[in-house]
Amino acid sequence: MRLLMAFTLIASFVILPVHADEQIAKGKAIFQNCMACHGEQAMGDEDNEAPRLAGQHGWYLVTQLQNFQAGIRGVHEDDDNGQMMRAMATTLSDEDIENVVAYITTLSEE
Ligand code: HEC
Repeated sequence: MRLLMAFTLIASFVILPVHADEQIAKGKAIFQNCMACHGEQAMGDEDNEAPRLAGQHGWYLVTQLQNFQAGIRGVHEDDDNGQMMRAMATTLSDEDIENVVAYITTLSEE
């Protein structure tokens, strides 16, 4: 039993970083579709009225993407920017959201 726990503990240290790297790599690929508006380093672009995403909490970014998808955000007829972003968000799967947010949160670590 103790051996199994030790093994699980070691395995989780070995597997987790690999999993995280994979997530970040997939997220980086997805983020190619976001750069045009949010900027290469996710610093935002005022000309596009696209906000900075780098430095933001991961959980907040996930919630906002889910809100766009669920039609909680970006559905008002006068909200052109919101509607545009909602169209982007609805192309993402749950896994895409996790991956792209994992990548975005690395951009503020430098
Ligand atoms: C066509 C331009 C455009 C593209 C492409 C785009 N966005 Fe956006 N995004 C915006 C704009 C504009 C807003 C501000 C929406 C608003 O005013 O509510 C926004 C808002 C957001 C927000 C909410 C930020 C906050 O602080 O609440 C997130 C998260 C986001 N975008 C993520 C992404 C991701 C991830 C992608 C790529 C899959 C992406 N965006 C692609 C224009 C874009």
